Amino acid sequence: MDLSAPSAISIDGGTCTKDGLCARVCPARIFRFEKGKVPSVERAHECVLCGQCLSACIPGAIAHSKLDPKDLRKIEHPRPAGEDALLAFLRQRRSVREYRKKPVPQELLQRVAEMAGYAPVGAFGGAGWIRHVTVVEGEEKMKAVRDATVRYMRKLHDLMSGFFLRGMARFSEEARSGLSTLPDLKMRLAEYEAGRDAILYDAPAAVFVSAGYETTTPHEDCDAALMNMMLAAHALGLGTCWNGWLGNAALASHVRGPRELGDLLGLSETHRVVEAFTVGWPSIPLHSVPYRETSIRWVK
Ligand SMILES: Cc1cc2nc3c(=O)[nH]c(=O)nc-3n(C[C@H](O)[C@H](O)[C@H](O)COP(=O)(O)O)c2cc1C
Repeated sequence: MDLSAPSAISIDGGTCTKDGLCARVCPARIFRFEKGKVPSVERAHECVLCGQCLSACIPGAIAHSKLDPKDLRKIEHPRPAGEDALLAFLRQRRSVREYRKKPVPQELLQRVAEMAGYAPVGAFGGAGWIRHVTVVEGEEKMKAVRDATVRYMRKLHDLMSGFFLRGMARFSEEARSGLSTLPDLKMRLAEYEAGRDAILYDAPAAVFVSAGYETTTPHEDCDAALMNMMLAAHALGLGTCWNGWLGNAALASHVRGPRELGDLLGLSETHRVVEAFTVGWPSIPLHSVPYRETSIRWVK
């Protein structure tokens, strides 16, 4: 399907119940509704492909050139478990940094990856809609990813230890913030030299999500997709750990030299955000979770 072509949307006057739901749910205000009349379609080219009109309307009343009703997943159980169980499930996600030496079946990784497609996106439709999920699995490929990540981290270490960035840090908050990660970087490289993988934690698989320059909200889109996938993994009994080093190594636009990991993963050079997490079977059961102080204010 050509996502860059404008959407064509039409309403079947015979099927439409004239309730105006399409106009009420559409975030791009494409439908104009007057009581008792079939809504008119006014700005179809502004459609953001959210599918809310098709989800609210009775089947068959709206035809959309880019959204096939057959591809819409039915919301059958709005709350498939009790609310306490669902909230407990959300509370119980933890970062997992010890994995069993057992591969994750591809079918499970596929189910995790597909959940990215249900996360919110801030960009308008078309090409900006697209986030790219890349799944790496198997010892050989994971070793290649680890080696490339270590090379990136070593380069970054040298850059951070140099005079230039230290001088910059006196004037730039960004440089100061970057430099504050140096102790963590040093620790992980030292662990690696000592034969312990404190970077990928010997995980059997890793998942990357990236977005290109077409979208206006690549960070938010990738973060939302990443969190969806991590929760999906949690639901399947898998453990994950969000991995900033891995994501940065894959992007590596701020370090001179080849985009080694980006090339290995086949990421486009136009991708401006790459987020990543490791995934595998947890080997240490965790019994508790801290509540991280969150300031909640009411304005009534
Ligand atoms: C943006 C981001 C980057 C992270 N990068 C790493 C990382 O490189 N290595 C790691 O072990 N954990 C990483 N984490 C995981 C955090 O350390 C972890 O979420 C935090 O300690 C809270 O623990 P919890 O996830 O078990 O609740 C990252 C988390 C975020 C949000």
